[in-house]
Amino acid sequence: MLARSLSARRILYLPCTAPGSGRKYSKYGGRHTVAMIPGDGIGPDLMKSVERVFKAACVPVDFEKVYVSTNGTEEETNEAITAIKRNGVAIKGNIDTKFEKMDIDQKSANVVIRTSLDLFANVLKVKSVPTISPRDHKVDIRIIRENTEGEYTNLEHEGVPGVVESLKVITAEKSLRIAKFAFEYARRNKRKRVTAIHKANIMKLADGLFLECCRETAKEFPDIEFNDMIIDNTTMQLVSRPEQFDVMVLPNLYGNIVGNICCGLVGGPGMVAGSNIGHEYRVFETATRNTGSQIAGLGVANPTAMLFASTLMLKYIGLKSFSSDINHAIIDTILTDRIRTPDIGGSSTTEQVTDSICEKLVSRSRVACSS
Ligand code: NAI
Repeated sequence: MLARSLSARRILYLPCTAPGSGRKYSKYGGRHTVAMIPGDGIGPDLMKSVERVFKAACVPVDFEKVYVSTNGTEEETNEAITAIKRNGVAIKGNIDTKFEKMDIDQKSANVVIRTSLDLFANVLKVKSVPTISPRDHKVDIRIIRENTEGEYTNLEHEGVPGVVESLKVITAEKSLRIAKFAFEYARRNKRKRVTAIHKANIMKLADGLFLECCRETAKEFPDIEFNDMIIDNTTMQLVSRPEQFDVMVLPNLYGNIVGNICCGLVGGPGMVAGSNIGHEYRVFETATRNTGSQIAGLGVANPTAMLFASTLMLKYIGLKSFSSDINHAIIDTILTDRIRTPDIGGSSTTEQVTDSICEKLVSRSRVACSS
């Protein structure tokens, strides 16, 4: 009897291939299942917003929720990893890593999730939004960040008191992989140029290897322009002339810093989504991966970035029309109706922004939801 019900489940709980991606995600009786990791701070509020919007749009997605507490125990982190493997895809809030109280051997749960699933590319699409982005510049940048090595190896030790060594690991294998990903991304998305960001003038071996791998890869893509820039100059150029950048490829920590600057240029942490991409799994989250702990529970968090992350997820699993409907409802709410949270110059709450998006989706929907 048990064997029969297990085999019946196996038939229904099929890993499916997302159209055009060659990757797998789960589908159960016509509905998709997606892991949801709310995380800390404003994460749970943002997920509530995603759930409400999906319900209003009748999206055929069920969430498997997994809670990982601050710092994340090994057991919780493993459960999250298992849920992502089971579903193939996840939407995730950030898990706070309290570095003051942290054991030196304890790793960030976010980093463990990314490395265990080999989510090697973090991709941010950063574009100016009329009337919201605080500067006159026209920003339209794609950031491709190596997501699994570099400064995030957690390999540090204090050899003698007062002397700390911290290992940054750069490998040819992973540098070539991210470089190839960046050039293929540029070609697929009809972008003109890839810029490699580094500090090879000082870190001659580590960043030198990263740069060399990017240069080698560039030779295979003669249709895409290639240049490079040192990280310090890059940060200055970004705040003065961001228009010059197209696709940027960066090692892990520079990717984080440049990503945060770019998000700041277009409206802050509440506006931009991020995708973590591996060959087998994908995890969607906000671009700046912060927890918003200062505003947790106040009801003012901007849900836009997480909602955009959810629409990227829907596109990935093949639910393109739902993705597009939700995108339009978000844009109508924050741009046309100017219903906005305080971080982007409004006075509405998370709930009011979500209400407006839901109302637009309900009024657009041709068929009433069955549940
Ligand atoms: P934070 O999460 O409090 O955010 C910085 C500022 O942005 C705050 O003023 C906050 O109110 C505002 N903010 C953030 N998200 C918002 C939203 N959705 N809507 C409206 N306002 C929003 O501070 P921080 O230092 O960036 O991150 C806190 C924790 O997040 C860190 O302790 C760390 O554990 C984690 N983290 C942050 C990363 C980052 O890229 N900023 C990267 C990795 C981890």
